[in-house]
Amino acid sequence: MKASYCYSLLLILLAVSAKEHSLFGAADPTDGFTQLPLTDDNFDLQKPYNIPLSQRYNYSDGIRSLWVYNNDKPFKHSSGTRPRTEIRIKFQIHGAAEGATTLQLRIYDGNMRYYKYNLVATDLYDKWFRVNVIHDVNEGKITVFIDGEQKFVVKDQGPGDLYFKCGVYAAPENSSNFMESRWRDIKLFKK
Ligand SMILES: *[C@@H]1O[C@H](CO)[C@@H](O)[C@H](O)[C@H]1NC(C)=O
Ligand SMILES: *[C@@H]1O[C@H](CO)[C@@H](O)[C@H](O)[C@H]1NC(C)=O
Repeated sequence: MKASYCYSLLLILLAVSAKEHSLFGAADPTDGFTQLPLTDDNFDLQKPYNIPLSQRYNYSDGIRSLWVYNNDKPFKHSSGTRPRTEIRIKFQIHGAAEGATTLQLRIYDGNMRYYKYNLVATDLYDKWFRVNVIHDVNEGKITVFIDGEQKFVVKDQGPGDLYFKCGVYAAPENSSNFMESRWRDIKLFKK
């Protein structure tokens, strides 16, 4: 029924590499994948609607820093969502309708969780780490690697308008005033 089934063999991998050199031997999660061209034209920035991007985003020396304050406005006037500064990677994969997310990796108290549920990895505040996500659309399966090590496998949530995002969003109402994440070497691959 959905057009997206036509693309069911597509596999996508997002690699955010934090290391200069791979510490990993033959078993790198990107093995067998082809890197796709990705330029700044593919990066769509969302930030509190009433504040200039330069006050919530800094791209310098290859590092993208994104931050919000707890009482910032949402990304658009009409939205009731919590403040965010996020990169949305515009890379058309599927043409299907907008849907719920198929995966969220969140950090709470330094630990990475699948949404607010399963623990994926621990002790990740204030350090660089590498995250790879493989979305096997055909199998409806998502695999998450941290620093090259497989940490989590989960079923996806069906076809939809699939794209990757990263940044800061959805801090609970009474969390700390400042929330920041930094990203580098964002890459997209397919198989
Ligand atoms: C942007 O990042 C660079 C490098 O870390 C830093 O020197 C600079 O002060 C930052 N600018 C802002 C506005 O945060
Ligand atoms: C946040 O804190 C305020 C002030 O302490 C309190 O009134 C409010 O109920 C809290 N909201 C949540 C969601 O905990």
